[in-house]
Amino acid sequence: MKSIKHLLVVLFVSIATLASADEGMWLPFLLEKLNEKQMKSLGMKISAKDIYNINAGSLKDAIVSFGGFCTGEVISSKGLVLTNHHCGFDAVQNHSTLDHNYIRDGFWAMNNGQELTNPGLYVTFIVRIEDVTKAALNGVTADMKESERQAAVDQNIRNINAAAKKESYQKAFTRAFFEGNQYFLFITETYTDVRLVGAPPAAIGNFGQDTDNWMWPRHTGDFSVFRIYAGKDNKPADYSPDNVPYVPKKSLNISLDGIAEKDFTMVFGFPGKTTEYLPAIAVKQIAEVNDPAKIAVREKALAILNSFMRKDEKIKIEYADKYALVSNSWKKWKGEVLGLTRTDALDRKKKYEAEFQKRVDANPQWKSQYGNLLTEMQAAYTELEPLGLARDYHTEITNRIELFSLFNRIKYVQQSRGKPDYDNILARFRDSLNQFYNEYEPVVDKKLFEGLLPLYISPRVKEVTDFAKWANDIYDNTDLDNGKATLALAQSDPDALLQSLETDKAYAAYQEIIADYNTNILPRLNTVQARINQLQRTYMQAQIEVFKEKAFYPDANSTLRITYGKVNGYTARDAVKYDFNSYLDGVIEKYIPGDYEFDVPQKLRDLYVKKDYGVYGKNGRMPVCFIASNHTTGGNSGSPALDASGNLIGLNFDRVWEGTMSDISYDPSICRNIMVDIRYVLFIIDKYAGAGHLIKEMKLVHPKGGR
Ligand code: ARG
Ligand code: GLU
Repeated sequence: MKSIKHLLVVLFVSIATLASADEGMWLPFLLEKLNEKQMKSLGMKISAKDIYNINAGSLKDAIVSFGGFCTGEVISSKGLVLTNHHCGFDAVQNHSTLDHNYIRDGFWAMNNGQELTNPGLYVTFIVRIEDVTKAALNGVTADMKESERQAAVDQNIRNINAAAKKESYQKAFTRAFFEGNQYFLFITETYTDVRLVGAPPAAIGNFGQDTDNWMWPRHTGDFSVFRIYAGKDNKPADYSPDNVPYVPKKSLNISLDGIAEKDFTMVFGFPGKTTEYLPAIAVKQIAEVNDPAKIAVREKALAILNSFMRKDEKIKIEYADKYALVSNSWKKWKGEVLGLTRTDALDRKKKYEAEFQKRVDANPQWKSQYGNLLTEMQAAYTELEPLGLARDYHTEITNRIELFSLFNRIKYVQQSRGKPDYDNILARFRDSLNQFYNEYEPVVDKKLFEGLLPLYISPRVKEVTDFAKWANDIYDNTDLDNGKATLALAQSDPDALLQSLETDKAYAAYQEIIADYNTNILPRLNTVQARINQLQRTYMQAQIEVFKEKAFYPDANSTLRITYGKVNGYTARDAVKYDFNSYLDGVIEKYIPGDYEFDVPQKLRDLYVKKDYGVYGKNGRMPVCFIASNHTTGGNSGSPALDASGNLIGLNFDRVWEGTMSDISYDPSICRNIMVDIRYVLFIIDKYAGAGHLIKEMKLVHPKGGR
């Protein structure tokens, strides 16, 4: 009996460690210690030092945080940077006019002089990372209140950042990892002169749009090209016509040899946020309470937007971006709920917790420290449930009603009156008003108000029986939905505009909603959230101690990570099995002439007919996208997919529908990231756009001994 039990433990343990082969977003400076051996056993041909080395150029020196929301990589010795089309889209849009519609037609600079500047856009390199846990937790004791602890840590971090060794043009910041059990210092270099070099037409860069989003098989050429400029000394410099292309410490070589199923791959980038260490009860809440509520609000919002966009071409253009944004998370959450359910994530968590409790109970020291942890978390999350639900409704709904967001901006300007940089704030406010009204229709907003508020407001905030009447009353009696009048007032008499809030009926309604939230929800939410933060921190520490045989990775927090896996198809559901890559043939299969999502440019169809793929095609076909088991999330968009030798083979841009729950629970059988094949990127640049001069800058290699 005992030996069977022992065998079971051993079995469980080896399953646990094995299951993490593809899972994990690892810290580049700990690869040598934690992952190198496994990476090599999976096929990696370079060393951890080739990936991260602070004494010599390594792969990490070719990776940038792109604008703080995506990832990019340097692909030439003249500072050429590759990222996704959807990451560079804002820049493309800002340069587009009716005469030069770069969104529709694409854009290609044929020389450095034609590259376009993008005020506000930046890229950040990571110079080095250091473990500063000891200093960050200096003076922190176990009996501190959460707020006291935070204050102590914040002060320590200010000291750490101030004392960090760095050059004057570098920055230092410190982030919490493992729920605040560890702290790492980052030294960074940020370049603010980043110019647009090229982007394919949206019909290639966003082919399939919302219908194909989060789905496999995919046929999107989701890439755009930028160039980093530096001062004459190669150091960061604000835009100047005298700036020169940045010479990087490292740029990625590009493989022309393509991929095969089971090939080792890794993805290097800046994943935004995951929550992999929640207890079962929290996962249950996400799947059964929070996600469904957020989905319901967005579903309603999308239906309202759609009803206008279908009828009215002008509204369609104005709201296209907003629609895509609302739809993106909506669709992801739907996939997430589905994936959590299908993979029995809850059950897996429960089994894991049972094993945790068993080990804790068997060890007197752990038992006294962690014995009640799961029970306490159960209680805290139970208390959180109604508050978390109210929070989600509140955020989702107030963010969808655009008049509300306008109030926030006006309020901010009001509060800045008398401050030294008030003039600047006012100028920026006028700019943002302009942008706001360019993409705003009161009729749409009124319908959002009328349609969304019933999901939330009644009966707690106030008793409303006729929302249509209320909406009419609000929108008939505000001047703020009138763009022309408001813009004029912002120019001629900003004080009067700020003043007008006080008598505005819509603003009064908004105030009522905010006041209710701030009194009835927020204080209790903050209290229970602080307790949960503390419990999660203890639980994290406990898991690391109790599951000694397991290597743990910290949740994503927008810091540089590396994830590895292999090129691999998957079985999506009964009788549905997906291949690992897609071809241009699939683009043509999906082609719907004139359709806003599935139109295909004439030139691409011509190239397809002539099979004119140059050196980029394979066996007479043009590869387009592929999937692998790399553990990625939002923020990894634009991340380089690298082969076993660190050559660029693709560009990450999405995940598959069945596997979007990997932010909460990774399952190697169906979690796949989606990448555009680098050969398709090169083919579009060279053959489609005729920008072969860019290819000449790159270093193309044949690691598999291809031509
Ligand atoms: N789903 C991807 C991401 O989360 C791509 C989004 C952009 N593409 C789109 N069709 N909306 O960001
Ligand atoms: N499209 C996502 C992004 O913009 C990446 C997809 C994901 O969430 O994995 O970062």
